[in-house]
Amino acid sequence: MNMDHKDNQSPQGEMARILVEFLEVAITSIVFLKGVYPPGAFERRRYMNVVVHKARHPQLREYIHFAVSGLLPFVQKGLVERVAIIFFNNENIPVERFIFKLTVNLSYGSRVEEADLEFSLRSFLIKLPLSEPLTKVLPHDCRWEITAYFRSLPHTTASKDAELWIPTDTKQWQQPPVITPIKSMSSEPLGVQLYLEHPSLAEPKP
Ligand SMILES: *[C@@H]1O[C@H](CO)[C@@H](O)[C@H](O)[C@H]1NC(C)=O
Repeated sequence: MNMDHKDNQSPQGEMARILVEFLEVAITSIVFLKGVYPPGAFERRRYMNVVVHKARHPQLREYIHFAVSGLLPFVQKGLVERVAIIFFNNENIPVERFIFKLTVNLSYGSRVEEADLEFSLRSFLIKLPLSEPLTKVLPHDCRWEITAYFRSLPHTTASKDAELWIPTDTKQWQQPPVITPIKSMSSEPLGVQLYLEHPSLAEPKP
């Protein structure tokens, strides 16, 4: 990590550290929920006193871990607008997207109440399994990925972490998607909205 101590102590740094840890757990929960892997690929754990799932497979665990921890410096600077977990069909067309939309207040200078922030984030972990009926049944041979959308492009020279985040040629929908909110919270210095995106009925079929 090339962040200095001071950055780590800033309210935004503290918030970012808690958020990326949360995202790692939440993304694993989403992948578990969607049944992309057999249930045996996960083990039950407690996190923030909620039963969650942790990936057993090192490659899966590391993919999620490195993708979200690579975002930490950018979350802290308020550069990350959305973190998306995208499920694709075998034609590489997105069928469902889980979006975490982040709002970071860079002017906030007071202490972050760690327990309050964790309590707010915890409600997402409780809500996620309940949101399953709102989600689509995925095709058998689907693939998924984590994608981050930046408010502006990070300066690649500033950090090695940015190299993890290369522009993608992920196929997009042509029509605005149908949005289903799942959960939102707003605290200082962080607001989070979690919602689902599905292709609109007007979306041209391939
Ligand atoms: C950001 O934080 C500052 C300082 O606490 C506060 O005055 C301001 O209203 C906040 N901005 C937003 C958009 O919430």
